[in-house]
Amino acid sequence: MAKAVAEGAKTVQGLEVELSYYVAPELLSSFDAVVIGTPTYHHDMSLDMKKLFEEAAEKNVSLKGKLGVAFGSYGWSGEAPKLVLEIMKNKFEMSVIEPPLVVKYAPDAGGLEKCRELGERIAERLMHLT
Ligand SMILES: Cc1cc2nc3c(=O)[nH]c(=O)nc-3n(C[C@H](O)[C@H](O)[C@H](O)COP(=O)(O)O)c2cc1C
Repeated sequence: MAKAVAEGAKTVQGLEVELSYYVAPELLSSFDAVVIGTPTYHHDMSLDMKKLFEEAAEKNVSLKGKLGVAFGSYGWSGEAPKLVLEIMKNKFEMSVIEPPLVVKYAPDAGGLEKCRELGERIAERLMHLT
């Protein structure tokens, strides 16, 4: 899903996209948009993402006004990406794209297309902001 979102974002010229499994919390503030993918495990986001937010908050990393986006696969409840957006919006004062993109279990071709479309939408929003 992350690769497809990145692929979609790259179709808009002039945009730099970085796809990573890990990012140091301090580095988040150097991006115009933060796009987080997380599956829903035990009605929650993955521990890595929780840790990222926790450390970013502890270190007072400023993300105010940046674009925040979340997506993820799920089995039956799928609330993790919504929780991510809530934190982005309420704790970090980011501007978010709602609703989050969720796909049941592994994405099929249609699910991946939605990911690419999300990437394009993110890129277009950023191009209009600059
Ligand atoms: C231990 C465990 C707990 C899970 N808990 C939830 C859950 O609370 N809600 C939900 O919608 N899906 C839940 N799932 C299903 C996963 O979200 C789903 O399989 C998802 O596609 C996993 O993505 P991944 O393969 O990228 O880890 C759970 C799966 C496992 C293995």
